[in-house]
Parts: sequence; structure tokens; C-alpha cells
Amino acid sequence: MHCDWHELYAKAHICQLCGLCTTRTNVVIGDGNPRARIMLVGEGPGRDEDVQGIPFVGAAGKLLNKMLAAINLTRDDVYIANIVKCRPPNNRTPTDEEAIACLPYLREQFVLVRPQIIVCLGATAARYICGPQTRITRDRGKWICKSGVHIIATYHPAALLRDESKKYDAWTDMKSIRAKYNEIYSKSDTQALMTDDKT
Ligand code: URA
Repeated sequence: MHCDWHELYAKAHICQLCGLCTTRTNVVIGDGNPRARIMLVGEGPGRDEDVQGIPFVGAAGKLLNKMLAAINLTRDDVYIANIVKCRPPNNRTPTDEEAIACLPYLREQFVLVRPQIIVCLGATAARYICGPQTRITRDRGKWICKSGVHIIATYHPAALLRDESKKYDAWTDMKSIRAKYNEIYSKSDTQALMTDDKT
């Protein structure tokens, strides 16, 4: 049985399904437009996100905003979430146990937002969303389709801050995301027009 946003927030805010609950300041659930067609998924909150309770507000978040702006999108056009909702100490990668405990919240978010495009930001999101064999350097930029949802992985903005040489590939991915978005938009607008015609 799926829940509504209110129930999701209420459950997540008191969550004790893994050890991260003992070190968190805030549960970081999501941000952006809950009706967005694009959902972005990162790894987990960092220090700034833990303090503010909002995903992608630190240095990586600022770069993410610029990446979105480069393809004419703002945070109001997307919904942003993470694999884990609580900060792993010292920003380590979440363990399998932590990610698996937290994934039901992300699944609820997918059900509530119903995005047509999912963008996995980095290796952790790609592994849990596209499959455990996924390798970000090999598989980024490739579209897959699961249950009618178009999914792509690209580099995490934090990886781009560490290694500028990845920016070219990330830009290629961003353009591909914009193209898919345009394609879906024009299709659904045409469908809407055809439905209007019939009424
Ligand atoms: N990195 C992430 O993966 N998520 C955030 O919310 C912030 C940084």
C-alpha cells in the first residue's frame, strides 16, 4: 500500500531503520517539484544537506544547479532525492545495508512523483537504480528503460569538482537529458492536443 507525501515525511522523519539515524541532524527527503517529469537521484546527504535538511545545497549542489541551468532547467523543473536520506559519517559511501533499508522511501517517491526520466547522479545511484553491474565510467550516458521510465546515469557533481576532465562527458549527458525531455514533452503535448480534439 503506497502512502501520500504527508505519510512519507512523517515516517521518514522518525526512521530508525539503519544506524545512520544515530548520527544525523536532519532526515533529507527531497526537494524540487513533486510533479516534475525528471527526477534526479544522488547518493546521500553531505554536511550542508544534513544541517539544512535539503538535498544538494553544498558545493556539489551549486554545480548541479549550474548543470541544470545549462540545459534550461531549474530546481523547480526537477525533483531531487538521494539513495539514503541520512548523512553517512564523513560522507562515506552508504553501506549496502543502509541503502537497502532506505530504498523503500525512494520507491515511494518514484510512485508519488511518477517521473518519466530518472537521472542517476554518480555510481551509487546508478548501482541501486540501474543494477549492481553498472559501472559509471562505462555505462554513463546510456539510456535504459524500465517500466516505461527512461533512466540515465551521469557523473556525480562532486566527482566533477574533483576531476574536471569528466566535465566534457557530463555535458554530453546533460544534452542527452535535455533531448529526451524535449522528445517526451512534444509527445505528451501532441497527445494532449489529440485528446482535446476528441472532446
Ligand atoms: N551529494 C549527494 O549525493 N547528495 C546530496 O544531497 C548532496 C551531495
